[in-house]
Amino acid sequence: MAPSQPINFKLTKDELQKLSTLAIAAKRKAYCPYSNFRVGAALLTDQDSYYQGSNVEVASTPVGTCAERCAIAPLVASIERPELPRVRGLAVSTDIWPPASPCGMCRQMIREFCDADMPIYMYGRRKEVGQEYSQNITEMEELQICGEPVIMTIGELLPMSFGPNDMDKREVKTTNFG
Ligand code: THU
Repeated sequence: MAPSQPINFKLTKDELQKLSTLAIAAKRKAYCPYSNFRVGAALLTDQDSYYQGSNVEVASTPVGTCAERCAIAPLVASIERPELPRVRGLAVSTDIWPPASPCGMCRQMIREFCDADMPIYMYGRRKEVGQEYSQNITEMEELQICGEPVIMTIGELLPMSFGPNDMDKREVKTTNFG
């Protein structure tokens, strides 16, 4: 594969506005009757494509999936191999303050498909607003109460991580354990 261009992680005001709006809109589609903890996520690629995900729970609770992984899987599946996604930013939206950060499993999946210095924009719900919400709150109202994002890179959130390159470091690629 030809070496790829470096990714521009600096989002314009409009790009960040759109990314955060999509994450907050995705949160409104969360299916979380068991936890009542809504999460929305949105990704921006270097092809100017946006992908959204929300948490989707099921009655057998460990089976549910997080918003971040829900957004990443269709992005990866939309690309012909050997190409891989090139993600410029990920926004995550929850209803708590300070904003929630991606869980450990999501961090590992983000790390698989995003560069270490890719920023994650974490939006919450400003403390003075409280955490009670009704189905009637408008998207505009949600945008007004999300507050400033906490911004950290995936490398900061998952330091010394295990990743695809570690697999390549093996000197013995196959072992007979028999
Ligand atoms: N959740 C996410 O969607 N993303 C995270 O990174 C943390 C947790 C979801 C899973 C579950 O549906 C709910 O939040 C409560 O854990």
